[in-house]
Amino acid sequence: MIEINEVGPRDGLQIEPAFVATDDKVALVDALSDCGFARIEVTSFTSARAIPALADAEAVMQRIRRRPGVVYTCLVPNLRGMERALDSGADELNLVMSASETHNQANLRMTREQSTAQLLAMLERAGQAGVPCNVSLSTAFGCPFEGDIAPSEVERLARLFAGAGAAGITLCDTTGMAYPTQVADLAASLAALLPASIPLTLHLHNTRGMALANALAAWQAGMRRFDGAVGGLGGCPYAPGASGNASTEELVHMFDCMGVDTGVSLAPLMEVVAALPRLVAREVPSQLLAAGPRLRTHPAPGR
Ligand code: COA
Ligand code: ZN
Repeated sequence: MIEINEVGPRDGLQIEPAFVATDDKVALVDALSDCGFARIEVTSFTSARAIPALADAEAVMQRIRRRPGVVYTCLVPNLRGMERALDSGADELNLVMSASETHNQANLRMTREQSTAQLLAMLERAGQAGVPCNVSLSTAFGCPFEGDIAPSEVERLARLFAGAGAAGITLCDTTGMAYPTQVADLAASLAALLPASIPLTLHLHNTRGMALANALAAWQAGMRRFDGAVGGLGGCPYAPGASGNASTEELVHMFDCMGVDTGVSLAPLMEVVAALPRLVAREVPSQLLAAGPRLRTHPAPGR
């Protein structure tokens, strides 16, 4: 059994140039709620100037239907965002900072030291409020400004936040720089460092076509939680060359083929994916949408 977290409403929509209407975002989350996800990242409580696409975070959180058993989480970059998310009744929060100094400053306008201080204060505040926090480490496998990131840096941050009360750690391949053996090595070293009670999640982007290969390598190395975005939407607006996430349906389809239970039903998910081009007014990079599942058959050619 593995867990799939759907991050399309947040990571997927944050980079879309055309604003997706609040009602359409709510309908998207509601449709995803019926697909069997463990967790849905609904939105982010960021500065509206930094992420205008998600400026309606409160309204979205207020209007979505909460399906029992689904964890509704939100990304928050600072204490201000955390207070907004707590007021909105998020079940869980996803805190974020980058393993790379340059990307952290581009994305969050803080040094890593300042972000670390914010995140530690946020973990304390969320602890008082009784809301679990996952910590996402961006550019864990490489940075578009700095190149390779030392695994020791990712390990240092993961240990620090795990020790300060994080409920889980996510390794984010922000611009698709990860490759399978690198993912397997980092998954193994972190699993050895962190207590078994702190789950690791892998957040992949398919920028260089390696997302599914990386997911498979991570699964073989023992990772059991994956982020994905419907239709392969997504990308970080503050990382040059960023493009879509690992597509959720392609992750689910691959694990289905392998007989690994994801909890997600592919049929209703594909209906959501099929409706995306209308929602974002462009084609989405889903090969599964184009080809259909592997046992889709076609009429034999006539004679
Ligand atoms: N929610 C809403 N508004 C916020 C906010 C939050 N969490 N944090 C700051 N602001 C507002 C401030 O009030 C200020 O508003 P004003 O200009 O009207 O006075 C403005 O944003 C700038 O505030 P400041 O503290 O100087 O922030 P900044 O400009 O240094 O930006 C972040 C810092 C973290 C708020 C911003 O970079 C951000 O939201 N980044 C998120 C990036 C992201 O989500 N990337 C993709 C996911 S990894
Ligand atoms: Zn991402």
